[in-house]
Amino acid sequence: MSVMTMANDKQAEARAILAANDRGGYTVPTHELYPFQWNWDSAFVAMGFATYDIDRALRELERLAEGQWADGMIPHIVFHAPADSYFPGPDVWGTRHRIATSGITQPPVFACALKFIADRADDSFAPRILALFEAADRYHRWFAAARDPDGAGLVSTLHNWETGRDNSPEWDAPFARVPETTTTAIRRRDTGHVDASMRPTDADYRRYIHLVDLYRSLDWAPAAMFAAAPFRVADIGSNAILLAAEEALLDLAPRFGAAAEPDIRARIARLSRGLAGLWSEDRGWYLSRDLIAGAPIAVRTSAGLLPLLTSVPDAARIERMAATLARHLDDVAMGVASTLPGERGFEAKRYWRGPVWAVVNWMIAEGLARRGQAALAGRLRRSTLASISERGFGEYFDPTTGQALGGRSFSWTAAIHLLLSEA
Ligand code: GLC
Repeated sequence: MSVMTMANDKQAEARAILAANDRGGYTVPTHELYPFQWNWDSAFVAMGFATYDIDRALRELERLAEGQWADGMIPHIVFHAPADSYFPGPDVWGTRHRIATSGITQPPVFACALKFIADRADDSFAPRILALFEAADRYHRWFAAARDPDGAGLVSTLHNWETGRDNSPEWDAPFARVPETTTTAIRRRDTGHVDASMRPTDADYRRYIHLVDLYRSLDWAPAAMFAAAPFRVADIGSNAILLAAEEALLDLAPRFGAAAEPDIRARIARLSRGLAGLWSEDRGWYLSRDLIAGAPIAVRTSAGLLPLLTSVPDAARIERMAATLARHLDDVAMGVASTLPGERGFEAKRYWRGPVWAVVNWMIAEGLARRGQAALAGRLRRSTLASISERGFGEYFDPTTGQALGGRSFSWTAAIHLLLSEA
């Protein structure tokens, strides 16, 4: 079989995964383990669809926006239809939107996806893009008001699940302050689908649910949550992605919302200052920050490279990160490890404590390409594409062996495969 045919077969497989995980205009991350629509998963899936079906790509974002709250927040899960294979379900969240949703958010890749799609869409799609532009602008305004009420330039994350990197070692110390007591009975469903050794621990789960119980008792009111949160971090991933999303929105503004431009510019200026402050000269990397302790979290993660998506890092910093990344890629079977090997808390197979996630790789490569590191971007893209092709569409990958792990037939991994095989 020629290399070309093999590539085409894999693309067909990736499209088939998206089709199989389609539940009617929205895509579940994978069947059983995650039976609803997840926020940042859907943004990547939408870009994957955009490589062959603009209408379906926009539909994905529209269905996500159905879950948007009156205050602008786009929740991390939209429970479009009931399913029993996931905990915590809508009853535990107890939110009051017209569609059941969770009460927290996730990294706002939404506007980045919208720009990606808009760049490929013809004029007939303009009204739909306009509506989504407005949803994104409301979402970003919510981030500023609810999560950076003092205008410090960094948005706060109040639950690990909001970072999208649930059990990253970055959160070990801040999360240890969260009590393990819950009012909700815990009925884990994930470990029925995936080996427990690759998932967060039971103690982690009790703390995750403690936070849900607490915020539900505050009726999900942003100011009360912000004040009461025992877990509050400036996640490097969410802050970098939000700034990249604001930059994407600014790019779209002349066509879809010129009136929003001054506000977007003001938010960009604030976030740029905040993000610049997360650089560690000592570690040569961008770090998350524990906002309760008021100190940087000295763990180098793959998310620490996401500021490359923005115009914040200067040439010297880009060089330093690129050199470390190139050495890392030499050392492992598959990079980029979510926690760099040798960092405190690294575990090769446990979720966000070491495994490689294709979506993060794609964003890093995007950032490298934008910031003058085309060769390294190409290397990362090729190796990620090859790994997925050889190992399958797993949820994540062991960096030391390249083995695919977690859930199978994963939507966002399929979407990234489609994006990478286009280039
Ligand atoms: C896990 C991941 C999160 C993802 C979700 C659905 O919770 O940590 O990032 O969005 O699964 O795939």
